[in-house]
Amino acid sequence: MVTNDDPVGVAILGCGRIGRLHAQVLTSRVPGAYVASVFDPETTAARVVAEQSGATVADSMQAAIDAPGVGIVAICTPTDHHLENIEAACAAGKAVFCEKPIALDIEQVDAAVRIVQETGTFLHVGLNRRFDPSHAQVAKAVEEGVIGDVHLVRITSRDPAPPPVEYIRQSGGLFLDMTIHDFDMARFVSGSPVVEVFARAGVRVDPMIGEAGDVDTAIITMEHENGALTAIDNSRKATYGMDQRVEVHGAKGSASSDNMRVNTASISTDRGTQLEVLENFFLERYYESYVEQWRAFLTALASAKAPPIPIDEGRAALRVGLAAQESLRTGLPVRL
Ligand SMILES: NC(=O)c1ccc[n+]([C@@H]2O[C@H](COP(=O)([O-])OP(=O)(O)OC[C@H]3O[C@@H](n4cnc5c(N)ncnc54)[C@H](O)[C@@H]3O)[C@@H](O)[C@H]2O)c1
Repeated sequence: MVTNDDPVGVAILGCGRIGRLHAQVLTSRVPGAYVASVFDPETTAARVVAEQSGATVADSMQAAIDAPGVGIVAICTPTDHHLENIEAACAAGKAVFCEKPIALDIEQVDAAVRIVQETGTFLHVGLNRRFDPSHAQVAKAVEEGVIGDVHLVRITSRDPAPPPVEYIRQSGGLFLDMTIHDFDMARFVSGSPVVEVFARAGVRVDPMIGEAGDVDTAIITMEHENGALTAIDNSRKATYGMDQRVEVHGAKGSASSDNMRVNTASISTDRGTQLEVLENFFLERYYESYVEQWRAFLTALASAKAPPIPIDEGRAALRVGLAAQESLRTGLPVRL
């Protein structure tokens, strides 16, 4: 039994961008947990994280999971490895923190759902943006009825620069890798599941992304079960930083969360007003959400509550992403 007085060891599988970030967050901001072991076939990546967090470097996934003190497995590997990681962590009786998306197809997600149910595993899906303090305020205003029946949701989600093409190839592409956050955000702030998706997309940023079989610019419209309509716009490249805006418009008013700047200074002269640039990328813009996510995870685990984002919520976001891919392929809206 994990309690708040009893720090729990985390095995981090995958020490790339997000594995490093979770290790840093756990080491510096989350007193209830520590990084106990790490595994990455790129041994240099594993060593860097181990040195920063005081963890041991394991020579296999299983050794990391079985290392002394480990109660939680954090899955930060490329998405096509998540299912094998989930199987091993569940078999070992550990709690699981699995990065989004759970997998790249619904069959694999359903296999994961079965394993989680059969073993009674506490598994949380890392759709971290729900824990962003500003987006969470918007969702809370909707939940409390402050803005009344939801009519419209608008989400702008643009990255400062695309990831390497090799990453794009194995990530599942724009809808499953990047827009999946926005599909989940739409469901979160509207309080209602998505029932229809229509996607238009193109390659406007980098022809290499098109050659890798993906798109980099998209507009997606969706209908929710409660009748609300959502519009999402995505780009893999915004020259001015990470552009993240959410607005919910309803019968009694609207709620929105705006971009975050590096600082709030504004310099005004007779030629105009100059503001600081936006936070550069997800590591900076969403840092607090990663901290809050771990705190929510540990609180739920210690009090034997359901995980903050259970596997069926992760499954729902993936289904919307797959439907968006189908819509793009066929040119037609897709009912879920
Ligand atoms: N929630 C978020 O904001 C967020 C942000 C970025 C990535 N992600 C997700 O995290 C996952 C990893 O993405 P990333 O950007 O860190 O990728 P990355 O390519 O930067 O890192 C992946 C790491 O995993 C290692 N790896 C490969 N096979 C492995 C295996 N079998 N066992 C252990 N490690 C292995 C690689 O060597 C690499 O160091 C993806 O599922 C991605 O969708 C989530």
